[in-house]
Amino acid sequence: MTEFFRACAARDVPDLGTFAVELNGVPLVLVKSQGEIFALDEFCTHEDVSLADGEVYDHTVECWLHGSCFDLRTGKPTGPPATKPLSTYQVRVDGDDVFVGLPAS
Ligand code: FES
Repeated sequence: MTEFFRACAARDVPDLGTFAVELNGVPLVLVKSQGEIFALDEFCTHEDVSLADGEVYDHTVECWLHGSCFDLRTGKPTGPPATKPLSTYQVRVDGDDVFVGLPAS
């Protein structure tokens, strides 16, 4: 079961940019690419640095430290050195509010 929490205003997530937020104790990064907002774990699975400082392009966020790339739609690494995926979360936009679905506790 999924529970949705308000994460931010839609305008807080810049196009080809990121917005870090902690929801219900879960650190997340919201990323906007091609007009769509995605929610993933905030920290790179390679060495635990924030992806909020990463570069965004073509449904990808690239870690600033060693260049691992992750697909925003699946969380899977698409470029090394990371090999483990990020968790992804459902996003709903309602007006100017962005909601993210987390597993119900
Ligand atoms: S910490 Fe992200 S690629 Fe190394």
